[in-house]
Amino acid sequence: MTLIFSGIQPTGNLQLGNYLGALKNWVTLQHDYECIYCVVDLHAVTVWQEPKELASNTREVTAGLLASGLDPRKNIIFNQSQVAQHAELAWIFSCVARLGWLNRMTQFKEKAGKKQENASVGLYAYPSLMAADILIYKATHVPVGEDQKQHLELTRDVAQKFNNDFGIEFFPLPEPLILGHATRVMSLRDGTKKMSKSDLSEASRINLTDTPDEIAHKIRKAKTDSDTLPGTPKGLENRPEAANLFGIFAALSDLSLEEVCMKFDGAEFSKFKKELTELAVVVLGPIGKEMARLVSDPGYLDKVLADGSERARNIAAPVLKDVYDIVGLLRSDNLD
Ligand code: TYM
Repeated sequence: MTLIFSGIQPTGNLQLGNYLGALKNWVTLQHDYECIYCVVDLHAVTVWQEPKELASNTREVTAGLLASGLDPRKNIIFNQSQVAQHAELAWIFSCVARLGWLNRMTQFKEKAGKKQENASVGLYAYPSLMAADILIYKATHVPVGEDQKQHLELTRDVAQKFNNDFGIEFFPLPEPLILGHATRVMSLRDGTKKMSKSDLSEASRINLTDTPDEIAHKIRKAKTDSDTLPGTPKGLENRPEAANLFGIFAALSDLSLEEVCMKFDGAEFSKFKKELTELAVVVLGPIGKEMARLVSDPGYLDKVLADGSERARNIAAPVLKDVYDIVGLLRSDNLD
């Protein structure tokens, strides 16, 4: 059976990379599969979060999921901290994962920077919580952007080692689903740097809540090169900014990269940017508006999360019970 799980952090604005690398694909998958989508607030607190902002960011990201087209009746949508089994399984996985595995994680190195001694223990152990998020549901497929690939490999290693250590085929080895033409959306200011909600430069990213004027301004200012546009994807090689903008165009329009190249063969960037702006406003405008409407109704968002959490707990609780039995942890409900 295919079961989809994915997660997103409630840290600040949702940006175009989140939409094209994750949310857009989540929306497509919901039509064919059982899906569980989680706002991972426990991951967010691995770096400092203002408590009031964390709660409102959790609601805002939930609004983003719904506004992008996810149906809360069809899918399970919830915030991680309401399902305690994630944290409980994460502890078991912290005892399965090896220090050497975590030492290789590039995201930790990037986020901790030069001051690793000052990073939280949680930031370091983050991938074992992520493995628990996925495996507490025995999910088989995980749609993510390319930056999460290494964490998915670690999840598979954890599942495999748990199965080997206890001599039981218990956890599936989940597959990453890295879909679409924009699996790694880059900064609009620097085509070698990932677009990110934590980038200090607001001009580096397009937020789902940006107005049409803001979108137009950021695309107009986006870094380019001085060549004309190529007729084939090969002509995008060694042109990181052009490749990024073409990937964004392809992903937003559902055209192939070949078709986008053919459409703009020999054109100037100004013509391309004008069309990209129109496309981005048509796709993102309604999402931003719907997000604003949903955010003004926190009671509804809280109800969606409460309902999703209950449904998630119903799946997670028996899996955790089995894990405790396998590991040999004594529970009073096992004594009869
Ligand atoms: P997060 O919150 O950083 O990002 C959420 C999703 O958006 C994708 N993404 C991008 N894709 C393409 N280009 C970009 N510039 C870009 N920026 C972000 C991410 O790849 C991700 O799919 N550790 C995860 C959250 C998580 C999770 C999980 C994911 C926690 N538990 C279990 C899957 C399964 C993270 O920090 O994503």
